[in-house]
Amino acid sequence: MAEGFYVVAATSELVEGGQLFVELDGEEILLIQHQGQYYAIAYLCSHAEFSLEGGSLHDGCITCPYHGAEFALVNGAALSPPAYEGIKTYPVRVENETISVNSTPNPIAA
Ligand code: FES
Repeated sequence: MAEGFYVVAATSELVEGGQLFVELDGEEILLIQHQGQYYAIAYLCSHAEFSLEGGSLHDGCITCPYHGAEFALVNGAALSPPAYEGIKTYPVRVENETISVNSTPNPIAA
């Protein structure tokens, strides 16, 4: 597996509340801007493996559009049922108006 950061988008492509699917080294990632911060999380929910894309964002969390599980954007922790396992998150770097993501995930939160 390759390591390091890859430029995946320009900051102008991801407005507040924006969500963008990214595939890096076989990892399916959802890139999000929420409250001025950029996050890269797993594209699929840990409950039934449906897409988190389109989930509502609030207070640093995303709500799965299918059955309502909530995850913390910062570390992927599962915050409410029906999901009990966290999701992957990935390091994000913003510089020179570009967003880069590292395809090596952070440790999974409980
Ligand atoms: S697939 Fe996300 S809560 Fe069921």
